[in-house]
Amino acid sequence: MTAYEHLLRPGRIGSMELRNRLVMSPMETMYGTPEGLPSDRTVAYFAARAAGGVGLVTVGATGIDPLHPETPGGLHLGTDDAVAAHRRLVDAVHEHGARIQPQIVHAGPDGLGPEMHGVDSLGPSVIPSYLTGRPSTEVTREQIAGIMDLYRAAVVRAREAGYDGIELHAAHGYMFLGSFLAPQRNRRHDRYRGSSVEGRIRVVLEALAAIRSEVGPDFPITLRISGYERVAGGRPSYETALVAPLLVEAGVDAFHVSGGVIDRLVTQMVNGAAYGDGLNVAAAAAVKEVVDVPVIAVGRLHDPALAEAVLADGRADFVAMGRPLLADPDLPRKLATADRVRRCISCENCIDSLEERLATDCAVNPLTGREHELLPLPVVRRRHVVVVGGGPGGLEAARRAAAQGHRVTLLENGDRLGGRFRHAALVHPDNALFLDWLLAEVADADIDVRLLTIGKPDAVAALEPDVVVVANGGMLTVPEAGMETPHVIDLLDALQGPEHGYPIGRKVCVVGGTLPGVAIAGHLAAAGHLVSLLEPGLELAPEVGPKRRTEELDELDRLGVAVHVGTTVERYTVGGLEFTPQGGRTRELRADTVVVTGWFEPNLRLHEAIAARLPDIEVYAVGDCRGYGLVRQATEDAARAAYEWGQTSERSRA
Ligand SMILES: Cc1cc2nc3c(=O)[nH]c(=O)nc-3n(C[C@H](O)[C@H](O)[C@H](O)COP(=O)(O)O)c2cc1C
Ligand code: SF4
Repeated sequence: MTAYEHLLRPGRIGSMELRNRLVMSPMETMYGTPEGLPSDRTVAYFAARAAGGVGLVTVGATGIDPLHPETPGGLHLGTDDAVAAHRRLVDAVHEHGARIQPQIVHAGPDGLGPEMHGVDSLGPSVIPSYLTGRPSTEVTREQIAGIMDLYRAAVVRAREAGYDGIELHAAHGYMFLGSFLAPQRNRRHDRYRGSSVEGRIRVVLEALAAIRSEVGPDFPITLRISGYERVAGGRPSYETALVAPLLVEAGVDAFHVSGGVIDRLVTQMVNGAAYGDGLNVAAAAAVKEVVDVPVIAVGRLHDPALAEAVLADGRADFVAMGRPLLADPDLPRKLATADRVRRCISCENCIDSLEERLATDCAVNPLTGREHELLPLPVVRRRHVVVVGGGPGGLEAARRAAAQGHRVTLLENGDRLGGRFRHAALVHPDNALFLDWLLAEVADADIDVRLLTIGKPDAVAALEPDVVVVANGGMLTVPEAGMETPHVIDLLDALQGPEHGYPIGRKVCVVGGTLPGVAIAGHLAAAGHLVSLLEPGLELAPEVGPKRRTEELDELDRLGVAVHVGTTVERYTVGGLEFTPQGGRTRELRADTVVVTGWFEPNLRLHEAIAARLPDIEVYAVGDCRGYGLVRQATEDAARAAYEWGQTSERSRA
């Protein structure tokens, strides 16, 4: 018997039989073609998840009307010629034994129709798009009827493409159905009125009726709905369970109970670590208690043991995972084989990347979205790969090289592996999930790890490598002036703390608001210190995107950290420091300890020296030594290097 008996037990949604109870939650990737069709990248990404063993793949928001896309290039099933492209995706997933369904949406008030196609977006009322702020027009009864036709046609196309069912999206108080459900957005006074339960649910019932009239009773329909919207003026927590029997009557085969309403940062929909795990489980259980169809729970069910307990306790029938399957597509398969799962670290890079790079990527899994271009190549000539530096970039490079079958030597000048990522794990505990995974993978692999060994060029050359990876980290630069003052310490000293001779007083002032500064301020505040944070620039944590940054700022607020930007630190004094706030007069801030965070700069000297010493072999610079880039850059550099040396290994055979 496996430890994940309930998760791995076959299940059923309507007529759809599933090999286990794990569902891939719908996630926008922006990997589609400019025309909004599944691309090679889309197909490879989903095929990898299917191969990883998930029971049911849900494709992210898939529009029914290409004139109203939710994102540029967002997938759609709004035209007949979309069917062939979707069929290719469906076939690729079926090949690996998983089922697949698209999440069917009309973007309603939140589409990019105005920006991309010059058409008005359509909402229950005149309300601003959560994304662009542009107001929708109030949809008429005739237009609603037209949209029902679009639902009908899109679901027929889904079936033609071979999809095993659909997920109808009515969650998160956005897009067409969701915004009708949300009293704070639905200000209508007609039969769809937002002020009554019957009024706001009516459009969902009509959509179900329209779809059922076209595809009959056997085509599985899952309804995604926010169990609790958690917003002032929104639907009360008990409403989803109240309407659930009615929805079953209208043809729902399963409920996918999400939570929250959308905002630009999907704050309540893709929850940060501070929200705690399993936050939608109670709402899912409430629905399960009133219906006989299966209920899917989702939302920070990242720990397989917790997911298993939710099923074992009878609080849901299936568990959906979003981010965990970006981090490790093989998670379901690994539950059966007891292999180590690479866990999501709640860094929110996958959300921020949608806005910053117009496609999602994952910090701990550089192959996510690159399955079509970066798959490891088979090794044809075993080479000697020497890795210098045991932080995340070095560990990732070493484990990839070992997995390719190369001989690997890893040199670390400290007395243990992990590098500065150990500090990052102290201040953002979810980082430890990835650090521990890397350490365990390296420990299990056939890697010659040499601690307390400095990777100087001559020492590296003496190992006669075929490939060298230099991953020695960035250089922490701290302005020297005033650092000799007894109560002034730098970031690394502060992280070492009292046991290493760096006592930290009750009142602390952190100078420098990059991510490490923000994180150490929060860390010290959580430990009971009274913390103020001073940043010379006008923004905190500029190295991360808006979602993560906001989560960090919320955390500082929760922990009581006083934050100032636009400040100039004049000098350190006996009792603290003197600073000038923007537009104000110089004043003293009392502090027992001042922590100066500084910043990380590129540190390519070792890479250049090794490359000069070994001019005939490949020498790669990986991670922060190229410039501060967080764990995402470290893993991506390592994966790209491994891919390149994989190719040269192949060429060298010819
Ligand atoms: C990159 C990304 C894109 C998402 N896109 C969608 C989407 O298209 N439709 C939707 O209903 N939810 C979307 N979500 C929310 C997820 O389906 C899921 O509910 C959420 O991430 C919480 O689950 P998790 O903690 O397992 O990640 C998205 C989440 C992420 C991380
Ligand atoms: S990018 Fe970060 S938050 Fe998103 S799945 Fe990967 S590890 Fe998790």
